[in-house]
Amino acid sequence: MKRVVIAGVSGAIGGALATRLVERDSQTRVIGLCREPGKASEFLRTHQQSTVLPWDAEDSASPAAVSEALESLLSKQEGVDGFIYAAGLLHGADMFPEKRLEDLDAGSLARAFAVNAAGFGLLTQALLPWLRHREFKRVAAVSAKVGSITDNGFGGWYAYRSSKAALNMLVRNLSIELPRRCKPIACVSLHPGTTESALSEPFSQSLAKLKVHTPSETAANLLAVLDGVGEEDNGRFLSWDGSELPW
Ligand SMILES: NC(=O)c1ccc[n+]([C@@H]2O[C@H](COP(=O)([O-])OP(=O)(O)OC[C@H]3O[C@@H](n4cnc5c(N)ncnc54)[C@H](OP(=O)(O)O)[C@@H]3O)[C@@H](O)[C@H]2O)c1
Repeated sequence: MKRVVIAGVSGAIGGALATRLVERDSQTRVIGLCREPGKASEFLRTHQQSTVLPWDAEDSASPAAVSEALESLLSKQEGVDGFIYAAGLLHGADMFPEKRLEDLDAGSLARAFAVNAAGFGLLTQALLPWLRHREFKRVAAVSAKVGSITDNGFGGWYAYRSSKAALNMLVRNLSIELPRRCKPIACVSLHPGTTESALSEPFSQSLAKLKVHTPSETAANLLAVLDGVGEEDNGRFLSWDGSELPW
């Protein structure tokens, strides 16, 4: 991937993915998106191969502002050959993963759907003119295994689980439409594996039994999976070790 847009570069996984892509290839250009560009690492803010643009999944005007800014950064002919959506929301100031039905809250559900699902579809829409060139393109949504409907034997986390399931459905829909309009392309969902980050931090004690990766390990794992993704993998839900997950 040589011209890559990554949403959520102020986050642990998005930031590590962007850093790794820049570090591994002096020809790769990364356009990073996040709410506050000043929160991205100094490395990404100052490196000549990277540009950080403002974008907020909860602001409906934001995708158009991103495509407007992209106009002066990348020609549509050249286009992007990678789009990775690594933004996500599990908890916030007035938001915590629900344990039971009584915890459901309209505001939290709407926020989770905006950040975890809609943002991916709307940014893909904004990037469409840059996805229509003839080279192979990878579009990847960083999802979560807990978004698998088949795998859900535990319940809870209503807003997060259901918004990730919605994200997965957006991936499946796009895996049908994008090859008709932007061939050659593959659109996939990725489970990053449990990773040290602000998102997973409140659960670190209960995660102690699990293998927890550093953001840098996760970025290496996800890029290894993405590097191996070809057109034949379009529409798959892949885990960080390359194994397939059930929808
Ligand atoms: N960490 C794990 O164990 C784990 C496991 C499974 C799946 N995932 C998924 O991996 C992805 C990355 O998570 P992470 O662990 O790197 O968490 P993180 O460090 O908390 O990063 C989350 C990112 O999402 C961004 N975000 C939140 N609300 C936003 C909004 N309204 N508009 C735009 N961006 C917004 C954050 O931006 P700000 O910096 O502005 O808040 C940040 O860049 C998420 O989709 C998450 O669901 C993580």
